[in-house]
Amino acid sequence: MNQNSFEIISALLKRQSGLIIGRDKLYLLETRLAGMLKREKLRDLNALADLLRNPANDHMAREVVEAMTTNESFFFRDDKPFLHFRNQALPKLLVARTGAAPLRVWSAAASSGQEAYSLAMIINECQAAVGSRKIEILGTDIAREQLARAKSGTYSQFEVQRGLPVQMLLKYFTRDDQQWKINDQIRSMVEFREWNLLSDSAALGKFDVIFCRNVLIYFDQSTKSRVLDFLSKQLAPDGFLYLGGAETVLGLTDKLIPMEKERGVYVRADQVVQEKMRA
Ligand SMILES: C[S@@+](CC[C@H](N)C(=O)[O-])C[C@H]1O[C@@H](n2cnc3c(N)ncnc32)[C@H](O)[C@@H]1O
Repeated sequence: MNQNSFEIISALLKRQSGLIIGRDKLYLLETRLAGMLKREKLRDLNALADLLRNPANDHMAREVVEAMTTNESFFFRDDKPFLHFRNQALPKLLVARTGAAPLRVWSAAASSGQEAYSLAMIINECQAAVGSRKIEILGTDIAREQLARAKSGTYSQFEVQRGLPVQMLLKYFTRDDQQWKINDQIRSMVEFREWNLLSDSAALGKFDVIFCRNVLIYFDQSTKSRVLDFLSKQLAPDGFLYLGGAETVLGLTDKLIPMEKERGVYVRADQVVQEKMRA
């Protein structure tokens, strides 16, 4: 692939999804776009780049972006954030929210839905504390194919073996041939929709809890800062933001700060300042 073609595709990925790809990842372009080249009868990535220059081929640009996303996910990934949500965040927010407004939870790079459904199962397990309180869970992602999978709530044997305790599998899923389907009650607790994290998320409203895990790692510093600023604006003053284990806010935004002794959990900086002033 020549340098000019590489620049066309890498610029497209950065502009439309935030993904940064260096020439050392050329093999990724080659493997993930191989199916598209074959279907479109294109001889190589240079031919694809030529087509992508033409705005009439926007649908192809979208397909390139989607093919280049890394969608790996699993239930209760890394355990700790989910334990914190269950044992700290949820009880605290249930006490703090006395009005009729729903408690809102956002899985902001939801992929095939395991994160959002893990949160829904936890909320269901905490039903005694939740009572009649309304809780909304929104799962968003840029990748339409993953969102379709998430909406179907259907997972392979391999996927349910990753992270999902067996008693939860038996309680919340039914087996359908080689697949496992999450039950309708849990499925109905989550709404999935397409959303690009590079857009100002004001339109989605405020959230009490945001899980935005294992996606910032693919962005450059300025994109990370921009996304974190958007997220901080949508986080309730006393809300909680969860990032992936290899992600941080440090050096990227002054609007969020890590919670003491809680790896991967962040709160709004202005709230902490106010609490210190009241103390
Ligand atoms: C590795 S998965 C993480 C899934 C889940 N959060 C987890 O930790 O298991 C990253 C997801 O981010 C999505 N993604 C990448 N860029 C995005 C963007 N600009 N806006 C929204 N989603 C994006 C990808 O499509 C992918 O599904």
